Amino acid sequence: MAKLLILNGPNLNLLGQREQQIYGTKSLHDIIVECQQFGVTCGFELDHLQANAEHQLIERIHAAGVDATSGLVFNPAAFTHTSVALRDALLAVKLPFVEVHLSQPQTREPFRQVSYFSDIAIGTIAGFGPDGYVLSLQALINHLDE
Ligand code: DQA
Repeated sequence: MAKLLILNGPNLNLLGQREQQIYGTKSLHDIIVECQQFGVTCGFELDHLQANAEHQLIERIHAAGVDATSGLVFNPAAFTHTSVALRDALLAVKLPFVEVHLSQPQTREPFRQVSYFSDIAIGTIAGFGPDGYVLSLQALINHLDE
């Protein structure tokens, strides 16, 4: 079975508790369970990592480059707006990825309006809350099937 990876950045472990008016009430665990069910129906095995530390995300991306992962859904969270290192890791492994955000950063504070990932992603899905993860998986799978 082909493998996909869902990668979540800092503070997303607090989904369901954190700023509910922006990020909703669903936990990360529930979102990942939904994604895993969706992945299986599409014939993909799904791995997931949430990390608050940049180096852990970088190391998981490096591992994805050699463990037969076909592509990623990535919510870099606050690192979206800061991390050249994560961008470089994705460029190094050359794996296709969809950038996902629960909120729509483009309509928020000016510092959230810069993404270090949008121009190298297959595409970005933002503003659909937790549903954005399954939508991103669908987009990634369509891309891989092309
Ligand atoms: C986020 C948007 C980021 O600006 C923020 O730092 C997050 C979550 C989102 O999913 O909407 O932590 O990536």
